[in-house]
Amino acid sequence: MVASSAAVDSIDPAMRGNATGPALPRSIHSALVIPVRDDLRSLDGYHSAQVDVRVRLNTNESPEPPPVAFRDALAAEISRVEWHRYPDRAAVGLRAAIAEMHGVDPEQVFAANGSNEVIQTVLLAYAGPGRTVATFEPTYQMHAQIARVTGATVVSGERAADFTLDPAEVARVVNEFQPDVVFVASPNNPTGIVEPATLVSQLLDLAPGLVVVDEAYAQFASWSALDLVSDDRALVVTRTFSKTWSMAAARLGYLVGPRWLVAELEKVVLPYHLDAVKQIAGRVALQFAGDMDARVQHVVSERDRIVAAMKELPVEVFPSGANFVLFRPWPDAYDENSGRAVWDGLIERSVLVRDCSGWPRLTGCLRVTIGTPEENSEFLAALAAVLEAESAHRSRPEPLINGARK
Ligand SMILES: Cc1ncc(COP(=O)(O)O)c(C=O)c1O
Repeated sequence: MVASSAAVDSIDPAMRGNATGPALPRSIHSALVIPVRDDLRSLDGYHSAQVDVRVRLNTNESPEPPPVAFRDALAAEISRVEWHRYPDRAAVGLRAAIAEMHGVDPEQVFAANGSNEVIQTVLLAYAGPGRTVATFEPTYQMHAQIARVTGATVVSGERAADFTLDPAEVARVVNEFQPDVVFVASPNNPTGIVEPATLVSQLLDLAPGLVVVDEAYAQFASWSALDLVSDDRALVVTRTFSKTWSMAAARLGYLVGPRWLVAELEKVVLPYHLDAVKQIAGRVALQFAGDMDARVQHVVSERDRIVAAMKELPVEVFPSGANFVLFRPWPDAYDENSGRAVWDGLIERSVLVRDCSGWPRLTGCLRVTIGTPEENSEFLAALAAVLEAESAHRSRPEPLINGARK
């Protein structure tokens, strides 16, 4: 089964509403529905297509499951869980293991259900009504989405056409809006760009509030802002187990930040939010750091192979420090339909990538996650075939009507 060409890749159609709210299933009578908060009415839900295809390269997961030895060690520990008891509320063992890996104090570590929940907790504590959150677009959509859900005002700076961030634009946004929270993702999703260290330092010098560096993909990149974290800086660095650690199914993420900030987050988050199995899974995973490093190296070399091969095709490939690559077919002749046409063609060949072509500032762009060598080869072959078929179609002249072209 493959998706129909009408499948939506970023916004769930069921949640796509208008100013008065989302469309409702026919069976629900609108008189029964109570109004959602005014500021949430026009909000679209976040959605990424889950389509049954042979090659799934759309959500930046690890291409490999965790090592077998991890699963064995996990099973052994899970057999000892006291199921009738609440889990360790402070997740002491997990936080100690994360802290040890990064050479920080456990009191500087806050863990939650995916880095999305880490970000949500930060924004519940430091954003909310009357406060302002800044992002630099295009970037990870959930930063602005979660900020809006907390009731905060979101302001956006603009990246340049090559998706780099001009320090003058950073200064403009920070000076003009004095945001309570500023986000940068490094490497940035969906562009793949690694922000320079000087940019984070600039933000730390200028920003009046909290700076969040989202490092969901940091292991694939050349530097990390972790070394900048200290108790006298309003900086947090967020990380996830979903990518490098091959644990997207577990939903586990964390941040490293100042002790005083972590203490505030503990007040905001729900009691016992991290279940016992997840705490064990995270702790056990860290015993396999060597295996994970080897996988990261493998992904990086596959990324280099894919990028080199794509450069032989009629596509613009944006430089990536992550486990995915953003690209734009026919960079000199793209339009609002060209990216979708390539996405459809790939789906017909049972290859799923992320369709970013309808997102603001990303007209014509698609994003491919680095998969196994076999998946990557299948993607490259499918892409070449789609581009060839579509190029022929695109260059075919319009039929003559009464001696003239339409
Ligand atoms: C930049 C960025 N931050 C955070 C996340 C969320 O990760 P998690 O699975 O830990 O919630 C993602 C997921 O794709 C991401 O791309």
